[in-house]
Amino acid sequence: MNRASHPGAAPEPADAGAFGRVARVLDETASTNDEALEWALQGAPHGAIVRATRQTGGRGRQGRAWHSPPGGLYASLLLRPPREALAGFAPFSAVAALQLAETIGAGGRCWPMLKWPNDVWIAGRKLAGILLESRTLPSPAVIVGIGVNLAPPAKGWPPELRKLATSLAEWGDRRAVEPLLAAWLARLEPAYERFLREGFAAFQAAWSGRSLLDGREVLVQEGDATFRAVVEGIDAQARLRVLLAGGTRRALLAGEVHLLGEGGP
Ligand code: BTN
Repeated sequence: MNRASHPGAAPEPADAGAFGRVARVLDETASTNDEALEWALQGAPHGAIVRATRQTGGRGRQGRAWHSPPGGLYASLLLRPPREALAGFAPFSAVAALQLAETIGAGGRCWPMLKWPNDVWIAGRKLAGILLESRTLPSPAVIVGIGVNLAPPAKGWPPELRKLATSLAEWGDRRAVEPLLAAWLARLEPAYERFLREGFAAFQAAWSGRSLLDGREVLVQEGDATFRAVVEGIDAQARLRVLLAGGTRRALLAGEVHLLGEGGP
């Protein structure tokens, strides 16, 4: 994956993909998403990866912090999609989460589920999340940030995560950072090409097969408003289809849903 930091590695085959071909590996940074964005502005190529051993200001969705001690996978992938693809690009975060769930599931130790819009959960606890950020100038750049808990932090989970988070090691999967990242990138690259051609519709069935929320009652948070609903599924644009108490149906573009009866980040 990381030729830059493994100069003695065997040469890549001629048809090797772009994802992970160029990589920066840092011991510590505030956020790999910020590093990747900065590198993008300096001309980093499509598929470039930034990975860090620990983050001091890791960010999650909805303005939350992402706890990033050593031992987790913290990485950001730079994509340079065609300008015309940018408007409909947001569902790619759901594709990235699906590829991550499949990569983790391929380890054979657990069956990762997906919590809309792009979290990976195992047995009612969060394992991984995706933070997609984009800029349009001077040319389109999308950063796909991925955080995966590989093992419980050496100092234990902070109290607020104790009942919410899980890690791969807790399921007997001892894969290290590099092989896991390389396996995800290898799945993600063809999925990216397919997403550009066919949109999220091509992934809708596979996503639904791992959906944690289908048929469940949730609390939807939309800005300052909250309401209860039952989840009916995900649509071809990766919107969450929900049924409200009065019989109204909605398709949620973005936001936050909480399973009722269970907490969750
Ligand atoms: C979420 O579930 O809220 C998304 C979490 C994304 C965390 C990753 S860790 C690597 C990258 N850098 C960041 O600051 N955030 C993402």
